[in-house]
Amino acid sequence: MKQNRNMMAGSILMTAILAFSLYGFGQIWASSKNQANPLYAEECGSCHMAYPAQLLPPQSWQNMMLQLEDHFGENAELDAESKQAIESYLVEASQQGNGSSRKLFRNLGKQVPERITTLPYFIHEHDEIPSRLITSNDKVGSLSQCNACHQRAEQGDFDEDDVSIPGFGRWDD
Ligand code: HEC
Ligand code: HEC
Repeated sequence: MKQNRNMMAGSILMTAILAFSLYGFGQIWASSKNQANPLYAEECGSCHMAYPAQLLPPQSWQNMMLQLEDHFGENAELDAESKQAIESYLVEASQQGNGSSRKLFRNLGKQVPERITTLPYFIHEHDEIPSRLITSNDKVGSLSQCNACHQRAEQGDFDEDDVSIPGFGRWDD
């Protein structure tokens, strides 16, 4: 009995340690400030998730904020004050990108990308997923819907181990 209880305590502790280290590792992309910016989440999170700022270089965000009237075919225009506040936030948070986002910007050269989904590294990571699981999948629609497959995308966590494609499940390559 006593031994059982010790074993149980031991496994709870192990689980906690494991959960913590996985969590810590997965957080490499995370921007704690992302969650703390309600204006950004509200204004830029209604049509798609509020993308973590580290997914694009600062210049990309600046360009995007200059053309919100024609934002990928949609009108996403904002009042000047909100626009300024959101741009400052994105530019600053993007610069806090660590080694992981530099990996994302690999092979970019001097290009200023308009999208995350056209980054060479992004394409490389997603080119094995068949389109029936993306565009022909009601629950996904396009690769821009990161959070359809990456369970913790909104927290900035894109760890391969947390991917589950709707109607397909976990992805093991
Ligand atoms: C009215 C709806 C709408 C609003 C509001 C909106 N967007 Fe978008 N956004 C879109 C659409 C549509 C796309 C293209 C998605 C696709 O191709 O599937 C897009 C794409 C994007 C992409 C590129 C995603 C990719 O494919 O890599 C980024 C980054 C982005 N939006 C940021 C923002 C920011 C920042 C704001 C707030 C200033 C914002 N969006 C507000 C509709 C919106
Ligand atoms: C249809 C499902 C799907 C969507 C939508 C999707 N991804 Fe992925 N993503 C995957 C899969 C599956 C992998 C793992 C690929 C592999 O293991 O080869 C992956 C891998 C990644 C990786 C590499 C992770 C690592 O550990 O190196 C990043 C970063 C990433 N995705 C970011 C994004 C972002 C940002 C978006 C949205 C703009 C997005 N993904 C949209 C399915 C998706």
